[in-house]
Amino acid sequence: MPLTRKAYRAAILHSIADPAEVGIEASYEYFEDGLLVVDNGQISALGHASELLASLPADIEITHYQDALITPGFIDTHIHLPQTGMVGAYGEQLLDWLNTYTFPCESQFADQAHAEEVAGIFIKELLRNGTTTALVFGSVHPQSMNAFFEAAQKLDLRMIAGKVMMDRNAPDYLTDTAESSYLESKALIERWHGKGRLHYAVTPRFAPTSTPEQLTLAGQLLGEYPDLYMQTHISENLQEVEWVKELFPERKGYLDVYDHYQLLGERSVFAHGVHLCDDECARLAQTGSAVAFCPTSNLFLGSGLFNLPMAEKHKLNVGLGTDVGGGTSFSLLQTLNEAYKVMQLQGARLSPFKSLYLATLGGARALRLEERIGTLQPGTDADFLVLDYNATPLLSYRLKQSKSIAETLFVLMTLGDDRTVAQTYAAGNLVHQR
Ligand code: GUN
Ligand code: ZN
Repeated sequence: MPLTRKAYRAAILHSIADPAEVGIEASYEYFEDGLLVVDNGQISALGHASELLASLPADIEITHYQDALITPGFIDTHIHLPQTGMVGAYGEQLLDWLNTYTFPCESQFADQAHAEEVAGIFIKELLRNGTTTALVFGSVHPQSMNAFFEAAQKLDLRMIAGKVMMDRNAPDYLTDTAESSYLESKALIERWHGKGRLHYAVTPRFAPTSTPEQLTLAGQLLGEYPDLYMQTHISENLQEVEWVKELFPERKGYLDVYDHYQLLGERSVFAHGVHLCDDECARLAQTGSAVAFCPTSNLFLGSGLFNLPMAEKHKLNVGLGTDVGGGTSFSLLQTLNEAYKVMQLQGARLSPFKSLYLATLGGARALRLEERIGTLQPGTDADFLVLDYNATPLLSYRLKQSKSIAETLFVLMTLGDDRTVAQTYAAGNLVHQR
């Protein structure tokens, strides 16, 4: 393949560290008139346009974006593909919401054509919202994942996903068995894990819908292949936490169930964690596990307020999750808007640079992919966005009043959504143009 080199000129901003560890000023790099150079799908240079331009050949193709900000692609560490068609389901909290809306909606994915149609809609929606990597729950049906991986592969996206394992406490039409879930997951791993930029996540839905046998086999799978991910839910809702205690009376608590079945580790991501205690946060951090903070979902389902300062105290890896369809938006900008309010309700502040970190490098670290995505460092994948300062009349007028990149960033996260994402690039290819 011939070398393809392109350059992009605009204001450029990326996170390079966690503000909680290094302070705000050392956590980011900002180039008011920046240049990003991309070679064969990877970033080869980043800097001030005035300095970099001199070192480039005169005939290089440069795309100049005015009134725009280039950032890394967003990373959604928790989302459900088969819930795309049920965002905004009225009236229930977690357990009734699952039974009333979620299980019937997910049952449609037994149909291959439906699975393919929704995989297409779902990936388009991710890219429209600037999400270039997601950790994705499928349905219990393996075809939901084949349809997704095929569509992601065509666009050379970096995606992680797995079929749900669920062998009890759900309708018969939607359960597998411990053995079938093991064999079906294994076949998907063999087919997709490590293929291009795709990765597989072993996906027990949550402790209440898996028998001890199924959780044992999930742990076994993790030991059989290198670098597999594990995703599940934890301590989202108080009734759910009580139910887990009833189902697993011999365990110390919710996290201890997963710990017992060897599901904690560096590639394990636990969604929500709203009601985790201090000891559980410490154990998650000790094992290198991560939590996906899902503010729109936690508010919509009335689950509670995630304690980010407690996670920071334990140096626990935290990413951001939309949790569509419990969450109400595919937009990580809108998710950060709600995250800010979740912190306000707890008397805490979420700085715009911490927010940027959560949506990019923090997510990459939660997924152990910081060498590949989450920043604009040379040598990483060219997954990046162009955010349009003039996306709406109000945004345009409001940003004209802005006196700093901090203020601009905060306003983008408050007023921004899919309309703000003018272009999305993945592996150097334009995969969405508004
Ligand atoms: N817990 C178990 N399944 C689910 C789900 O689909 N969504 C959410 N938000 N929580 C869950
Ligand atoms: Zn979820």
